[in-house]
Amino acid sequence: MKLEEQKMNNKIINFIKKKNKSKIISLTAYSKNIASIIDRHCDLILVGDSLGTVLYNFSSTKKVTLDMMIEHSRSVRMGVKKSLMVVDMPHNTYRNPKEALGNAKKIIAKTKCDAIKLEGGKKVVQIIKNLIKNKIPVMGHLGVLPQSATNFKFKGKKLTERKRLLKDAKLLEEVGVFSIVLECVESSLAKEITKMINIPTIGIGASVHCDGQVLVTDDLIGLNPIKVRFVKKFANITKQINTAIIKFKNEVKNKKFPKKINSY
Ligand code: KIV
Repeated sequence: MKLEEQKMNNKIINFIKKKNKSKIISLTAYSKNIASIIDRHCDLILVGDSLGTVLYNFSSTKKVTLDMMIEHSRSVRMGVKKSLMVVDMPHNTYRNPKEALGNAKKIIAKTKCDAIKLEGGKKVVQIIKNLIKNKIPVMGHLGVLPQSATNFKFKGKKLTERKRLLKDAKLLEEVGVFSIVLECVESSLAKEITKMINIPTIGIGASVHCDGQVLVTDDLIGLNPIKVRFVKKFANITKQINTAIIKFKNEVKNKKFPKKINSY
C-alpha cells in the first residue's frame, strides 16, 4: 500500500517529513532508564534485537525471542514520551505473512510501540505488504542483515549487490515502509538509495549521506566494549562507573559511608 494511502499516526508523518530538511537522530534503548535519558534528543528510539548480543552475550541475534523483545520494549515504553518507538521483530517470528501479522499484533498490543522493523528486501515483501494492509507501520532494514548474515562485510562492493540493494530499496518504498535502515552499505550506494527514494534512510555504517543515523546506545557511550569501524565512542561511561564504584568501595571500607544523613 502506497505511503499516501496509509492512515498514519502524526508521529510517523512528521518523521517522514524530516527527509531533506534535518538529519534524523535515532538510538537504541533496551530499558526505561536509558530511554528516558535519550528520548528528548531522539526522533526515533529502536528496541533493537541487538540486545541479544549486547546484553545477553549471544553470538548472534538469532536467539532473541519475541518474549525478550516484548519485555524490554515494555520497559522502554515507560521512558519514551515523544520519540517514535520502533521494535525489532526477532528472527523466526516473520517466516510467512500469517505468522508475521500475529506476532506484530502481539508486539504492538503488549508494548504500545508505534511501528515494527524487520530485515530483508524482496524475500519479505509479501510479509510487509500484509502487515501494512493490516495497518501496522513497518520500517525496513537492508544491507548487512544480522539475523541471516554469514559475514558482516559491508554491502555494495559488487555490481550485482548494488543493483539488488537498489531494487530492494525501491520495492520496500513501493509496498509502503515509512523508512529504511541501511546497515554497512558502501557510501556512494547509500547516497544513491537515499536520493532515489522519498522516505528517510537511517544509516549505521552507511555514510553521512543517509537522512539520519542510528547507533546502539551502549556502544556510543562506551558501555559495550565493541570495536568496529562504524561505531564512535562519544563517552566512556565504563570509566565513570568504575570511578563511582571505587569511591563507594573506599568509603565503605573506611566507614565513611553511610553517614548519619544516610541512616535511620
Ligand atoms: O538491532 C539493532 O539494534 C538494529 C540497529 C543496529 C539498526 O537493528
